[in-house]
Amino acid sequence: MTEPRREPWLLTPGPLTTSRTVKEAMLRDWGSRDAEFIKLNARVRERLVELAGGQGTHVCVPLQGSGTFIVEAMLGTLVPPSGKVAILVNGAYGKRMVRICEYLRRPCVALETAEDTPVSAATLDASLDADAAITHVVVVQCETTSGVLNPVEEIAAVTARHHRSLLVDAMSAFGALPLEAGRVPYDALVASSNKCLEGVPGVGFAIIRQTALEAARGNAHALSFDLHDQWVAMEKTGQWRFTPPTHVLAALDQALVEHAAEGGTAGRGARYAKNCRILVDGLRRLGFETLLPDALQAPIIVTVRIPGKLTVADSFRIGCIGRLGEDEMRGALENIKQILGEMGVTSCTPAHR
Ligand SMILES: Cc1ncc(COP(=O)(O)O)c(C=O)c1O
Repeated sequence: MTEPRREPWLLTPGPLTTSRTVKEAMLRDWGSRDAEFIKLNARVRERLVELAGGQGTHVCVPLQGSGTFIVEAMLGTLVPPSGKVAILVNGAYGKRMVRICEYLRRPCVALETAEDTPVSAATLDASLDADAAITHVVVVQCETTSGVLNPVEEIAAVTARHHRSLLVDAMSAFGALPLEAGRVPYDALVASSNKCLEGVPGVGFAIIRQTALEAARGNAHALSFDLHDQWVAMEKTGQWRFTPPTHVLAALDQALVEHAAEGGTAGRGARYAKNCRILVDGLRRLGFETLLPDALQAPIIVTVRIPGKLTVADSFRIGCIGRLGEDEMRGALENIKQILGEMGVTSCTPAHR
């Protein structure tokens, strides 16, 4: 995994470390109407639908911006002004969707659990029983605030049983953790170029059930965020409505080639799982405590309790995603050990234990 480099490793949830070849894919310019760019764009969209297992049912609608932009576009486009959203919240990204719904003036209810606890399918079941006005359910696959893995399959089953529509924020999981549209019935999933796909930041995308998107015409609160309009225009001309993030898409095209070469979602997920295991074991050997037990830990980001502090909230996070592998994880642990020595820290156990 290690490439000759002078830049620091990004051990964060994004932006992430990318390969040299992904960066090199940006070393030329494209016009928005270039036949080659139009082909590249179509290839990326098709590949993303395949990765989501949505061939024949779902379509890919990309949008400029960071992950939050595509989350906002998904909610604004798919939830009609007459709709109501149940948002499963156990961290900052669930909370942000509540804020987005408030901005969009879409009624919503937050079904909240603690940050170290998965969201609850039973609570959702009861809420959908009790409130017929709820039209949509939204869940975050891996809540990057803590790294907790949410039970999306159970949530999808409950949502389907109640005949409501499921929207998934798969931002920090897509490309590393499977979520096959054929097995898990969702109407939309969103993710971005720069998490587990290891592209550069700048584009988000939604994988949307075509029938749900067709029914969403006229819902959106804003032209730039209207995924229905974006889709119709892109299908008609193969082009973006507004200036496309050409270089970001070229990098994503290359990143998808490298993702496939690594064995797709299974291969990428396996490397991240190994990274996570090395980190967690190494941190525990140093005496640190992780916030989550192994069963709830997604191989995306590890939250570690700060030594000597009294509250659960005092913690730091280390990412295991991006173009990093075993050497970098061991290198990070070595650095932590060295710094602890320099700081004279003798115990890494939180004081509340
Ligand atoms: C689960 C999840 N949702 C949404 C976002 C927001 O993405 P961005 O910071 O790119 O706007 C993130 C970012 O880390 C995320 O992890």
